[in-house]
Amino acid sequence: MQTTTHIDLKSAFTQVRAATEKICKPLEIEDYVVQPISDVSPPKWHLGHTTWFFETFLLIPHVAGYEPYDHEFNFVFNSYYESIGSRVIRTDRGNLSRPTVNSIYKYRKYVDVVMSHFLERSDLTQEVIDLVILGLNHEQQHQELLFTDIKYILGHNPLFPEYRKDIDYSIPSKKTENFILVIPEGNYEVGYNGNSFSWDNELGRHKIYLNSYAICSNLVSNAEYLEFILNGGYQDFRYWHAEGWDWVKKNHILAPLYWHTINGQWHNFTFRGMLPIDPDEPVCHVSYFEAYAYANWKGMRLPTEFEWEVAAADFNWGHRWEWTASAYVPYPGYRQAPGALGEYNGKFMVNQQVLRGASEVTSINHSRITYRNFFQTNVRWQFAGIRLAK
Ligand SMILES: [Fe+2]
Repeated sequence: MQTTTHIDLKSAFTQVRAATEKICKPLEIEDYVVQPISDVSPPKWHLGHTTWFFETFLLIPHVAGYEPYDHEFNFVFNSYYESIGSRVIRTDRGNLSRPTVNSIYKYRKYVDVVMSHFLERSDLTQEVIDLVILGLNHEQQHQELLFTDIKYILGHNPLFPEYRKDIDYSIPSKKTENFILVIPEGNYEVGYNGNSFSWDNELGRHKIYLNSYAICSNLVSNAEYLEFILNGGYQDFRYWHAEGWDWVKKNHILAPLYWHTINGQWHNFTFRGMLPIDPDEPVCHVSYFEAYAYANWKGMRLPTEFEWEVAAADFNWGHRWEWTASAYVPYPGYRQAPGALGEYNGKFMVNQQVLRGASEVTSINHSRITYRNFFQTNVRWQFAGIRLAK
C-alpha cells in the first residue's frame, strides 16, 4: 500500500470520525435499527463496525494493556473477516436491537479517546500509520454506505420521510449536447502509481492496448432514460442479458429504483422526500443489467474500465458511479496482503462489475481516476448511472 506520512493523522482521524456522526444526525432513533434488505445495513451497525475496525486492527495489537470496550462486539461488528472469528450473519444485522444506539455512540467515544492519545505518540511505525490511513479510508467508504442505506431505509418506509430538507444532491446538469470524445487507438497505461493512499486493487500499473473508441462527455439523463421506458425497454427481451431479463421479469422491474408513478407522473424518492423526476439530472439507481440494456437499445455500449480511465481527464465525472463493461478481476501482479486485511478486496473478485468515478455522496478526498468500485450486476441502491461509449 502507498501512504504518505505528511498529514496530521490525529486531525484527519477526528475529522473523519465526526463526518460519520454528522451523516446520522438527522436520523430518529428508530431509523438506526432497521435492515430492509440484506445489502442495506442498519446505520447503527455502520457506526459500530467502523469503530471495531480501529479497535481490532490498531488498538488491540498495538496499544499495550488496551481493554476492549465490550468483548461481544467482535461478534456483532465483524463484517466479513474469516480470520477474525465468527460473526453475526449479514442478514441478521437488523435483529440487533441491542447493543443500543446509545451504547454504540459510547463505544465510538471510548475508542476515539484511546485513538487520539495513540496518534499523539511520536514512535508510530510506518505499518501503524498505514493502518490508520486504511481505517480512515474504510470509514469513508462506510460514510457513502450510510447515505445509500439511509436512503433505502427512508425510501422504503411507506411514508417516504425526508432525510434533510436543506440537502440538495440533485445535479443541475448542463443542457449541452452529448459531445463524444474520440480516443485514438494505441497503448495506454492504467492503474495507480502515485504516492498517496490507494486500495491494493488499483496497484500494478500496466500497459493496455485500446482500439479507437468514442465516449460521451455527459451521463445519460433522466429524460433520455425515460425514452427507454416509454419505448418499451423493460418489455423487450432483445436488449437484455438472459440473466438481466430473468431479473426484470422475476422482480417486475419497470423503472430505476425509487421511481414511482403518482397520478400518471413519474416521481422519485430523494433525500428531500418524493419529488417529480428532474429530466436534466443524470439517471441514478440503475443496475448493471439496466445500464447494459439501455446502451444496447441506444445502439451503443458501456465503456470498459480502461476506456473510462484513459478518457476520464477529459470529461466531468464524480456525480454517479458509472457501470463499466469490465468484470472485477485482479490487475497483473496483484498480490493479496497477508493476514485479515488481505480479505479486503481480493476475495470479492468474482461475479461483480467494476464501477468507475464517484458519486455525489462519496466522501471528499475519497475519489480518484484509478479507483475501482465493484458491485453485483443486479444491485441498484448505490448512486450508479450510465455513460455511453461506442
Ligand atoms: Fe467495512
